[in-house]
Amino acid sequence: MAMRKICVMNHKGGVAKTTTAVNLAAGLSRCDKKVLLVDLDPQGNIDLSLRIQANYTLYDALLGNVPISRCIVTLAKNFDIITSKETLTKAEHYMSTQPKSRQLLRELLDTVQGYDYLLVDCPPSLGVLNQNVMAFCDEAFVPTSTDFLGHDALKKMNEIVKKINQSYDHHLQITKIIPTLFDKRTRICRNTLEDLQKENPGLLSTPIRLNSKLKEAPKYGKSIFKYARNSPGAKDYGKLVEEVMEMEGKVVPKIEIVN
Ligand SMILES: Nc1ncnc2c1ncn2[C@@H]1O[C@H](COP(=O)(O)OP(=O)(O)O)[C@@H](O)[C@H]1O
Ligand SMILES: [Mg+2]
Repeated sequence: MAMRKICVMNHKGGVAKTTTAVNLAAGLSRCDKKVLLVDLDPQGNIDLSLRIQANYTLYDALLGNVPISRCIVTLAKNFDIITSKETLTKAEHYMSTQPKSRQLLRELLDTVQGYDYLLVDCPPSLGVLNQNVMAFCDEAFVPTSTDFLGHDALKKMNEIVKKINQSYDHHLQITKIIPTLFDKRTRICRNTLEDLQKENPGLLSTPIRLNSKLKEAPKYGKSIFKYARNSPGAKDYGKLVEEVMEMEGKVVPKIEIVN
């Protein structure tokens, strides 16, 4: 299959972007998909969450100090990762001074091949890093907390993607909205989920329930599938993995017209 290039994105923090990126990547790799997970958040801590020690991080490649291939760490079968750390903030500054400031990540990642999935965990901002990821990815998955502010953030995300596509001739599509931090005992969660379903027919994934195991897993450097495979968190992310694989071949990336 052609490589799916997906960013896990929401400008709001704390909506489970990193939790989703990590567990989706882990789950897909366990289903025999070749996955590269890229941490694009200077404070994303994927290295910590999965106990990875990398000699080089994305920062080094973005500055042109090493080829991107040197940043790739293999965590498990089918599961490769490029990590980041705080230094990425410095790269952001450097990138904004470059002539093709929105194309730098794309130039790097376009050379990466051989994966079924390239997943990017994005920072909660609308800075140059996210502009770069929007120029590279075909699909965006938007984790959306099932509350009032989460709902509002999703509306804004829709607007942002539309605007950026128009302004820069990108073709990023929101192909999955992932309701997160769902607590069915709470009225606001139930109501928000209903509204999300009504407003985004066909785009919503299975909701990810509130589950403390998902909070604990990073402490042990494990994905939810390794840490607590019978937990609600593993079940929900397991379903998400299946739903994402079902989309294979059905999402048609819009063709870019290059003048
Ligand atoms: N379904 C869930 N149940 C309980 N805690 C969760 C769940 N999803 C995420 N969390 C916790 O919420 C916090 C924010 O999640 P994180 O993935 O870091 O969000 P983001 O990357 O959007 O900032 C973390 O402490 C994480 O462990
Ligand atoms: Mg994060």
